[in-house]
Amino acid sequence: MKVTVVGAGAVGATCADNIARKELCTELVLLDIKEGIAEGKAQDMMQTATLLGFDTKITGSTNDYTKTANSDVVVITSGIPRKPGMTREELIGVNAGIVKGVAENILKHSPKAIIIVISNPMDTMTYLALQSTGLPKHRIIGMGGTLDSSRFKYQLSQHLGCSPADLNAVVVGGHGDTTMIPLIRHATWNSAPVTNFLSAEQQEKIVKDTMVGGATLTGLLGTSAWYAPGAAGAALVEAIVRDEKKLFTCCVALDGEYGQKDICLGVPVTIGKNGWEKIIDFKLNEAEQAAFNKSADAVRSMNEVLKTL
Ligand code: 2OP
Repeated sequence: MKVTVVGAGAVGATCADNIARKELCTELVLLDIKEGIAEGKAQDMMQTATLLGFDTKITGSTNDYTKTANSDVVVITSGIPRKPGMTREELIGVNAGIVKGVAENILKHSPKAIIIVISNPMDTMTYLALQSTGLPKHRIIGMGGTLDSSRFKYQLSQHLGCSPADLNAVVVGGHGDTTMIPLIRHATWNSAPVTNFLSAEQQEKIVKDTMVGGATLTGLLGTSAWYAPGAAGAALVEAIVRDEKKLFTCCVALDGEYGQKDICLGVPVTIGKNGWEKIIDFKLNEAEQAAFNKSADAVRSMNEVLKTL
């Protein structure tokens, strides 16, 4: 099994680190456009192998895609991250060109790869990767909802005073501060609805804090977060290489599901060896569906910007 992570910035390197620690593949390639950075980080990580006890062989490459040949899974993290006060959407002009080029180069050498997109604005970058490569839709997976759902569980756990691992909770829709929809009505603590234990004010705060989860960290860190985004990417790689059929919220191409078409948006899906395999219908109520449609409108108008670049 071979995995490539494109982009050796904080998110890419953290993702690679998690993949190696979990020994999700025998060969792991880290690639970056910046001279030496991928080689340096790969070597640094390899020097933890005896300390952490993993056998994955990590190599780095400065923009030499031949090194990525025959990868089974490729994670794209390339592009500029947002700065405090910026929205993910403001990155579209720069990141669209980068992501398109990366996806094309990857496929030249790994025509069978499953692609996970992390670069922002993630919904539009996933749509762009799908459109520009023409790959079967199951092989393009946007990571956003996996991260947002993990942040949602964190916020819930803080109010419930419980382990996030005991929670089931998903965020659907776009991966934007105003487009994501934490589905609190569907969230459970083991099997009990979390709404049984939370006041209306608490619920409202949890939803709001989840939606600005990334922006809050950007404010604190001066750049966007990396531990949870990197771990979310690695969790998807794990589900693919172990054929787990695990349920994640991912940004995938919709063809009528959740009432939308010709768009990539976050919905609950199973992830396994074929990429995303099944979309699970959570049966949204009227208000949730209206929010989903509004989110789709916002993402669609961002996708329109691609035509002007
Ligand atoms: C975030 O929300 C990087 O978009 C990512 O932190």
